[in-house]
Parts: sequence; structure tokens; C-alpha cells
Amino acid sequence: MASLHTLLGVVLCSLMVSSSEILPQADFDLQAMAGKWYRTGICSNGQWFVSRKANMKTGTAIITPTEDGGLELSFFSLINDTCQKMENLANKTEVPGKFTYKSRHWGYVSDMLMVDVKYDEYALTYSFNTRGNETFVINRLFGRSLDLSDEVQEKFRQFCLQTGILPEFTVLLPKSVECPLA
Ligand SMILES: *[C@@H]1O[C@H](CO)[C@@H](O)[C@H](O)[C@H]1NC(C)=O
Ligand SMILES: *[C@@H]1O[C@H](CO)[C@@H](O)[C@H](O)[C@H]1NC(C)=O
Ligand SMILES: *[C@@H]1O[C@H](CO)[C@@H](O)[C@H](O)[C@H]1NC(C)=O
Repeated sequence: MASLHTLLGVVLCSLMVSSSEILPQADFDLQAMAGKWYRTGICSNGQWFVSRKANMKTGTAIITPTEDGGLELSFFSLINDTCQKMENLANKTEVPGKFTYKSRHWGYVSDMLMVDVKYDEYALTYSFNTRGNETFVINRLFGRSLDLSDEVQEKFRQFCLQTGILPEFTVLLPKSVECPLA
């Protein structure tokens, strides 16, 4: 097992791209991104993810552009039969399609990039997060519906690999009952 991991590590390192090479979608259109999305996939190299990944399910996200070019991100998910709502306000940056926010719930600072978006179908995001001396990547796959094509799911898997995340930490989430959006 250890040797397999070493081997995978070598392969992954050669595929890995550094965060400065990851670019947001060209001509990113914030208004077109507005509205309701389902989070259908997540991958991360963060320590927190190791114990949490097994319990995560799909959730709902509402994106609302702000007047100054930032966005409000409200996230609803069902945890142990209770709806949890998380809200964050992300500032725009000098790079269109790149935003920055401090997670109110988790306390990390996140640089979030809208990497690949088809506004009526899916959005693949990359985020580089910092909390104290800890840094980690979280990639997310959002869909306008819960059912995304195999092609889009494969795109997400490949992107997770490229950003150095092992396949066992790439999760296409099991479907959850939807929370009321209140
Ligand atoms: C959910 O319930 C499980 C089992 O009762 C418990 O171990 C876990 O800590 C709970 N999770 C949260 C976020 O409350
Ligand atoms: C977002 O902008 C506000 C107002 O300019 C600022 O106070 C806040 O620190 C910024 N947040 C981040 C994470 O850069
Ligand atoms: C990171 O910070 C924590 C708490 O401040 C400390 O215990 C830990 O040793 C630090 N880790 C590294 C790699 O510097």
C-alpha cells in the first residue's frame, strides 16, 4: 500500500499544476452565475476532509452578485437531519472570476476561482485556503441540477488529480433531501 502511494505521489507530482497556473474562466460573467446551484462534488487535500468526507451529501448554494462585483454565497446542507445554513460574502479581486472571502463558519481565508463554467449546466471551482499555518485546496463541482453528465463528472475528477488531490479524496456526493431555503 505504501509503495502504491509513493508511486501515485510521483505520478501526481508530475501532473500537478501550481495554483498560480490555474486561471478563471475567460470572460467570466458574474450575472450569469447568479441563482441556485447544487453542490454535487468536492475534493480536498485538507486534514479536516479526512474525517468528514464520508458524511457529506449534496447541498444547495445560492449565488447573489453584489453591486460592487463581489458575490454572496449562501449554502444550505442537511447535517444529521438538521438544516445548516452558511453565508459568506466574497470580494472581487483584480482578476475577473477570482474572489476572496473569509469563511465565517470555519475561519479560513479562501481565494476562490471560477475555473470552468457552463452557466446553465455546471460550475467547477478551485479554492486555495489558508488558516493559520495550514493551507489546503478545495475544488467543488456545482450543477444547475443534481444530475450532471458523466463527461462533467470526469472533468471534475481530472481537475482534482491535476491539482494534486488523490482519487480517494475526490467525492461525487450522494444525494440528500433538499433543505428549505429560508
Ligand atoms: C452527526 O451524528 C453522528 C452520530 O450521532 C455524530 O457522530 C456526529 O458528530 C454528528 N455530526 C454533527 C456535525 O453534528
Ligand atoms: C472584503 O472587503 C471588505 C470591504 O472592503 C474588507 O473589509 C474585507 O476585509 C475584505 N475581505 C477579504 C477576505 O479580503
Ligand atoms: C501550526 O500551528 C499550530 C498551532 O499554532 C502548531 O501547533 C503547529 O506546530 C504548526 N505547524 C507547523 C507545521 O508549523
